[in-house]
Amino acid sequence: MARLQPLWTAAASTDAAEITTFLRARGVTYERWPLPDAVRTVAAQPRLDDADKARLLAAFSAELAAKAAGQGYGSADVVAIRPDLPGVDDALARFDRVHFHDDDEVRAIVAGHGVFGFTDDDGRQFLLTVEAGDYISVPAGIWHWFYCGSDKFITALRLFRDSAGWVPRYRSTDRGVPQARA
Ligand SMILES: [Fe+2]
Repeated sequence: MARLQPLWTAAASTDAAEITTFLRARGVTYERWPLPDAVRTVAAQPRLDDADKARLLAAFSAELAAKAAGQGYGSADVVAIRPDLPGVDDALARFDRVHFHDDDEVRAIVAGHGVFGFTDDDGRQFLLTVEAGDYISVPAGIWHWFYCGSDKFITALRLFRDSAGWVPRYRSTDRGVPQARA
C-alpha cells in the first residue's frame, strides 16, 4: 500500500482512495493492482531471468491490454533493481535528480519499494512511497524524482508509449534528492 506524505503537513496517508484523489488533482494516476501470490514470489527473487520477466508480464496481460487500448501504453518490460547489481548506484543516480520525461512514466510495482517525489504548483513537495501492488502514471512534463530505500530493492513493470520518451530531462545539475521543502 502506498504512503503519501505532503511535506507541508505532518499527516501522511495510506488510504488508497485519498491518495488517488490527491494525485488525480495533480495529474498523476494511481491505482491498486491485485498481486497473486505466484507473482509476488517471482517478483521478489534475487535475480529475474527473461522467463521470470515474461511470466510477470503474462500475469498482467489483461491490465496491460487495457492500458494499451486506453492510454496507448503499447509496450512493457520488467526492471529489477537489486543492491548487488553492477552499476546500480549510477543507474539510480540518473533519476534521483529533479527531472521530467517526454513520455509518461508508468510503473506497476510488483516487489520492494521506492519513493517518487513531486513539486506542487506552489513549490511545496510531496512524497509517494510505492510498493508491491501500486500502479502509478506520472504524465510527461511533470517534475519529479525517484529514489530507492537503502535496500535498493524494487521490481516493477514499466509501460511505454515510446521508450525514447523515457530519457530524463533535468531541471538543474544538482545531484541527489532535493532538500525537503514544506
Ligand atoms: Fe522519471
